[in-house]
Amino acid sequence: MTGEPLLAARGLTVRYGALTALVDMSWQVAAGEILGIIGPNGAGKSSCFAAMTHAVPRQGDVFLAGERVTDLPTYELARRGLRRTFQQNAFFGELTLLENAMAAMLREHSTSLPRSIALPWKEMATRRQAEAAAAELLSSFGIGPDEHGKRPGDIAYGTQRLLSVVLAYGSGARALLIDEPAAGTGGSDMKRLADLLVDLRRRGVAVVVIEHHMDLIMAIADRIVVIDQGRKLAEGTPAEVQRNDAVLEAYLGRAA
Ligand SMILES: Nc1ncnc2c1ncn2[C@@H]1O[C@H](COP(=O)(O)OP(=O)(O)O)[C@@H](O)[C@H]1O
Ligand SMILES: [Mg+2]
Repeated sequence: MTGEPLLAARGLTVRYGALTALVDMSWQVAAGEILGIIGPNGAGKSSCFAAMTHAVPRQGDVFLAGERVTDLPTYELARRGLRRTFQQNAFFGELTLLENAMAAMLREHSTSLPRSIALPWKEMATRRQAEAAAAELLSSFGIGPDEHGKRPGDIAYGTQRLLSVVLAYGSGARALLIDEPAAGTGGSDMKRLADLLVDLRRRGVAVVVIEHHMDLIMAIADRIVVIDQGRKLAEGTPAEVQRNDAVLEAYLGRAA
């Protein structure tokens, strides 16, 4: 890894009642780096994202840009640029793609809204600006203008997966936790998702991605953390992880 970590998990433990889903988990990721997280179903991967974003009770610490942010609520972490996507698509079904993108961008600038409401003409100008910015956001990630007026339910599933990531990025996330972006996709959709993740890295985002498609994650991740039964089983480059005996035995071997 190069540079200071932008985001770090330190000794995270998550319990759901009697079940311990994550045990003493630590990793870090730099700006402009892709960290892959892999492991079998039920290993604790999604719980790790929930722990990072303070969406579940947990022990341990989270650091963002060198600052301990463990006690901050989810929305404040999001405002500071730490955001996640979910395994399932999540957007406003009644809004167009453009309106979804506007909502995603406005959520980060909500303080400017009340002022614009007082003056209708100013609101118009603000709305036009917001529309232009939202269109630019979608287009810059490969979702073209012909799609902007559609509702999420009316676009291809592969594009919906892209949209989830783009909306989480909004007007510029610093760290993105992306949960199984390629779930249910294949072929050219997977390629588009891979390109999107690499694009986020190029923009300097610290990207953490959970993914089951081994060829995808091995191709784009700079480093990989392998989780099994809530614990870190291995960590290293894709090449190192693929020849790690414990990983082969516990996971990759089992999948093959
Ligand atoms: N909200 C929850 N309440 C109770 N148990 C949960 C909850 N979420 C996940 N679990 C359990 O915690 C374990 C880890 O789940 P999860 O983090 O979703 O794993 P993964 O994402 O690696 O498949 C599993 O045994 C799962 O059933
Ligand atoms: Mg999961």
